[in-house]
Amino acid sequence: MIEISNLNMSLSSAGRSVSILDDINLKVPPKEFLAIVGPSGSGKSTLLGLIAGLDQPSSGSIVIDGTALSDLNEDQLATLRREKIGMVFQSFHLIPTMSALENVQIPLELQGVRDAGAEAGLLMTAVGLENRFDHYPVQLSGGEQQRVAVARAYAGSPALLLADEPTGNLDSKNGKRIIDLLLKLHQDQGNTLILVTHDMKLAARADRIITLGDGKIVSETDPR
Ligand SMILES: Nc1ncnc2c1ncn2[C@@H]1O[C@H](COP(=O)(O)OP(=O)(O)OP(=O)(O)O)[C@@H](O)[C@H]1O
Ligand SMILES: [Mg+2]
Repeated sequence: MIEISNLNMSLSSAGRSVSILDDINLKVPPKEFLAIVGPSGSGKSTLLGLIAGLDQPSSGSIVIDGTALSDLNEDQLATLRREKIGMVFQSFHLIPTMSALENVQIPLELQGVRDAGAEAGLLMTAVGLENRFDHYPVQLSGGEQQRVAVARAYAGSPALLLADEPTGNLDSKNGKRIIDLLLKLHQDQGNTLILVTHDMKLAARADRIITLGDGKIVSETDPR
């Protein structure tokens, strides 16, 4: 599903070039549940952003289902994301001028789903937000926004789900609910799931764990 080769990312900060990802090589087979762990600042979110085609690497390549991201223009990348990739960002990225339900409904409409409103309602209910359809993002708590982001990411059953600490803002009850949902959908729909987490108990449920440190893969373990 994903093949990452010799991936490097440097950014300049205060006139100096800083290496954020350093020679990452990684293959993720279809249907794998891969957990990415590592300290704050180790490059986890940067790596997810590159896989989603939201940023461009300094060098190296990312191939998704046989297509090199570097061969796609912005429109083609947007199409690939719409058709194949669901994302839960660490900072949610909800559209502030739309209600919670609309945030989930819009991607479904873009995909041409007929009953987008009803489908969005089911997803909102699955994340426990059946009473928050009409709230705007500013009227939602951090954890509620996070749950809307999860519902939106699942809209249209993407083949690849990228989740950046999707339980980081949740209490244990809602955290468990989101995890159970992610894992259930992973099992039912057979999607590829890449999950960034600080929760080692959660990571232990993955097929494979990679640990990033200072922009490098420092270890790879098979928890099973
Ligand atoms: N635009 C930027 N310019 C310069 N440095 C950046 C930029 N964006 C991120 N960085 C640096 O890149 C490093 C990796 O950031 P990243 O967000 O990928 O870390 P992370 O592993 O997701 O951390 P966390 O667990 O805190 O979310 C950090 O040291 C960060 O300061
Ligand atoms: Mg991060």
